[in-house]
Amino acid sequence: MARCSQFLVMTKIGIVNVSDRASAGIYEDIPGKAAVALLTEYLISPWEPEYAVVPDEQPLIEETLVEFADQRGCCLIVTTGGTGPALRDVTPEATEAVCAKMLPGFGELMRATSLQYVPTAILSRQTAGIRGQCLILNLPGKPKAIRECLEAVFPAIPYCIDLIGGDYLECRESVIKAFRPKSQ
Ligand code: MTE
Repeated sequence: MARCSQFLVMTKIGIVNVSDRASAGIYEDIPGKAAVALLTEYLISPWEPEYAVVPDEQPLIEETLVEFADQRGCCLIVTTGGTGPALRDVTPEATEAVCAKMLPGFGELMRATSLQYVPTAILSRQTAGIRGQCLILNLPGKPKAIRECLEAVFPAIPYCIDLIGGDYLECRESVIKAFRPKSQ
């Protein structure tokens, strides 16, 4: 729970699976479920998902990100998919369009880490940025890639959210350790 004046507010995390085929019901939404499972593994502070499966349409992705950040109060949104070079891959463009500030270090670290697993890691244009008190993070669409990328950047996420005035996220230290410089 995050403290907001006298009220205790449940932390909300947005999961947005960007996929033409999953949104049309042709594929099962495996990436979104993989992201929820990982966040459940990583976090001990209580949170609840705000969940969406949207097609690779920039206006729809932007609309969902804005609604999750501004109306539903998510302090973190992770997108899955749509980061590659294909014509319909527009998740990074939608992310950049709704963010006030970009954090290119997230994409740099995820690509560097992913390159240890696959040479095609450089095809992902995944990035991250800030909208209000929300960090928006792009992950690729494959469940294995989601794990590899999220594991690499997650230690920096709770402190990033502290810095923008979002909810306090506590990690399950036996699984992943958040790095908060001021408390080290
Ligand atoms: N990163 C990791 N860790 N593992 C992977 O298998 N696949 C790459 C890349 N990043 C991959 C990865 C490939 S093949 C592509 S095309 C891009 O992510 C974009 O994926 P997306 O379109 O699903 O976002």
